[in-house]
Amino acid sequence: MSQTEQLISEAKRVLKENDLGGYTVPTKGLYPFQWNWDAGITALGWLHIDEKRAWAEFETLFKGQWENGMVPHVVFHQDSDDYFPGPDQWGVVGNPPSTSISQPPLLATMVRMIYEQSQDKDLAQAKLDALLPGLIRYHLWWYRERDPESTGLVSSYHPWESGMDNSPAWDDILERVPQATRSYQRRDLSHVDSNQRPVKAEYDRYVYLVDFFKDKKFDYQTIHDECPFHTKDVSLNSVLQRATKDLIHLNSLATEPVNLDEIIRGANKADVQIQALWDAERHQFLNKDYAENAPIPVKTSAGFMPLYGHSATPEQASIMAEEIKLWLEKGPKGLASTYPGEAVFDAKRYWRGPSWLHINWMIADGLSYYGHHDVAALLQQASRSIIEQSGYWEYFDPETGEGCGGSNFSWTAAIALHWLV
Ligand code: GLC
Repeated sequence: MSQTEQLISEAKRVLKENDLGGYTVPTKGLYPFQWNWDAGITALGWLHIDEKRAWAEFETLFKGQWENGMVPHVVFHQDSDDYFPGPDQWGVVGNPPSTSISQPPLLATMVRMIYEQSQDKDLAQAKLDALLPGLIRYHLWWYRERDPESTGLVSSYHPWESGMDNSPAWDDILERVPQATRSYQRRDLSHVDSNQRPVKAEYDRYVYLVDFFKDKKFDYQTIHDECPFHTKDVSLNSVLQRATKDLIHLNSLATEPVNLDEIIRGANKADVQIQALWDAERHQFLNKDYAENAPIPVKTSAGFMPLYGHSATPEQASIMAEEIKLWLEKGPKGLASTYPGEAVFDAKRYWRGPSWLHINWMIADGLSYYGHHDVAALLQQASRSIIEQSGYWEYFDPETGEGCGGSNFSWTAAIALHWLV
């Protein structure tokens, strides 16, 4: 078997092993449920194995959609003792139960990619028509409930919503969040070494926020006004922006297109507001602290996500392409999640340094859109070299390529199938 054949068969094995029937766990043990943005990316991997199964990933996730349109960050299809905070912790009564927050909304983009790249066009049309109403309700929820002031940027209220849990960008805001006083038992540390995971002071605040949403009965206006963790996340807003553009396109392909004026208005405003997050000195965009109404001056991979969102100008895209080359000189094994020159950089600790394959892919996809195929190719080569070296880990030390976190990881395998092999 050639190395490529070996990588393909390994990646397929990972997805099949993590398949619990209609949904794929990110990895067994550490993450035993269905996660929102993992599901979208994992579906891309299934496309290369079984198209029906790719579509099923979305259908199963949407079983957890709330009446108000939110698609939760985790849907608990079956209980498990492996994870905290599980279904009994969030106070959400639902069938299936879920968490009370969301995650970067890339689903419409993944649906569009699968629609365009699938072989069975009749199936794809039927699935697009069936999924579209739920996707539209999801996007309307973001604009209505997460931007009640119509600023053009949606709000996030938990580091887990960013998908970049312990990013140093959240450190100062998280300090303002009280620590949970109730006792609880983390489960992640029985699966992964503690130096690759968030610290206790962070976890205490994650748990406080879970309890806070429950106490506020998930009322979006109260949470907007009172939540001690409140950000305008540049990565999440970019993902939403891209997905909204793809949703508008999907609607035009639907058997019965609907009026999307409200969504189009939201998207037009967002492009302008994302521009306001540009930082000329740091050569990238910055997250924003809502309470202080100020940019968060920490260099993270999130700051390049407007490339993927198609919200940068061509000039900004060129500046970022050059900047990414500099980052790769310091951390050649994929794009570091935190700039290796930052004091807080930590090569193996989750979102404080490691490179993540799906982020490499999303940013490379954005670079190609702006014509920077050479830098996109650098990210692709780096990504390929780490899976050749280490296999399908959750994330990788950007200096050595060592695999970290959970092994046999679904979205890493999916990105390999879709992009690298
Ligand atoms: C971690 C990651 C998040 C991901 C989840 C499941 O919480 O930070 O982005 O969705 O694990 O893989």
